[in-house]
Amino acid sequence: MLHRVAHRGYSTVAPENTLPALVGAARAGATFVEFDVRATADGVPVVIHDRTVDRTTTGTGRVWDLRADEIARLDAGSWFGPGHAGLRVPTLAEALAALEPTGAELLLEIKPPATLDEVKAVMAALAEYDLLDRTVVQSFDADVVRKARQVAPEVRRGLLVFRFDAETVELSRELGITFCNPSVEDVLGGAPTIAALAEVGVGVLPWTANDMTQWRPLADAGVAGLITDYVGELTGWAAA
Ligand code: G3P
Ligand code: CA
Repeated sequence: MLHRVAHRGYSTVAPENTLPALVGAARAGATFVEFDVRATADGVPVVIHDRTVDRTTTGTGRVWDLRADEIARLDAGSWFGPGHAGLRVPTLAEALAALEPTGAELLLEIKPPATLDEVKAVMAALAEYDLLDRTVVQSFDADVVRKARQVAPEVRRGLLVFRFDAETVELSRELGITFCNPSVEDVLGGAPTIAALAEVGVGVLPWTANDMTQWRPLADAGVAGLITDYVGELTGWAAA
């Protein structure tokens, strides 16, 4: 089965990384819900993609310069459309509480830089909601992946890369990851690397597969699943 991974939740129907996007993704058939985690100035993990709150909220400033109570007051929905006004940036705890009953697996991206304490806070939240075994923790930063292994070696890990390179397979093996996730463009030209990763037990989830004409070629290239903003459409395509 091809994994159907909802990128920042079902981010074409609800504002990315908000609770309706996360829960809506599971309802639309996502097998994994992907979202991004950063720490606030006072060390609270929150679900937001950018380094600043500027693009996706009514506020301004860097996430790590703002306290959790300041971020909690921001409107994270009106940028997407007036019907979504009043949505908030979820804390990780709020996101996990909403996702736990859905049964979906989680692809939790820790945005760098992240300290060991910040990685510990993420794992503690997963433990609190009994989601350690339903989660893959991924990052573009191999050192963050190493911290995740240090804190909770039993939790599956993923490494995000922009391109496969000569070290991809060896690095994947060293990190003990479950998934190595490059861009769509790289995967379409990278069948030998996909096969080499498969030999060491590592699956490939390309991002962000929004062009539906690429879904068949990607599946034929041997990927484990697709990360897309169109998870409902992917569910329908996979069922057809
Ligand atoms: O999970 C893949 C994808 O989320 C990585 O890119 O920038 O959307 O976090 P980005
Ligand atoms: Ca992400």
